[in-house]
Amino acid sequence: MNPDRENSRDLLHKWIQSESLRQHCEMVAMAMEASAVDLNKSGETIDSWWTAGLLHDLDWESFPDEHPRKAVEEILPPLGYSQEILDAVKSHAPERTGKEPETEIERYLFACDEIAGFMNAVALMRPNGFKDMKVKSVRKKLKDKRFAENVPREDIMKGAELIGKDLSDHIEFLIGVFKNLK
Ligand SMILES: [Fe+2]
Ligand SMILES: [Fe+2]
Repeated sequence: MNPDRENSRDLLHKWIQSESLRQHCEMVAMAMEASAVDLNKSGETIDSWWTAGLLHDLDWESFPDEHPRKAVEEILPPLGYSQEILDAVKSHAPERTGKEPETEIERYLFACDEIAGFMNAVALMRPNGFKDMKVKSVRKKLKDKRFAENVPREDIMKGAELIGKDLSDHIEFLIGVFKNLK
């Protein structure tokens, strides 16, 4: 059994002090949960997807060079997190771990991570954040190389491809998810 949501959130807060990184982790967790619900997954699976989203950047603050291997190899296993979650965390950064996203949870985590960060950058520039955000304006910002330039556009494209979704539909879905945020 994976630790419950409260324990996972305590763990997140223990390892991550930055409010913005905590927020990013919460957003990816929300996106993963909503995706699992959308795919008609069972309660336990929904929890796993949420947890993988919440903890995917757990070691980023303390071990930026080893991320995410420190979390996958040392921090998470003794706490009882499933191999499924460990593999998902591992494969959200294939360029660092050599593990490409393959299973459904792995592909969705990859597909939610960078786009969530990017959409948050877009939301921060808007008076109403996600509330009245349009797919079109997100796509326009994606084309603007200088905007949130550290977010790799190719990973965003690859993510949508991995889950077999049109990128615009994926963004639309996530606007619906993040709307409840702020
Ligand atoms: Fe990461
Ligand atoms: Fe991330």
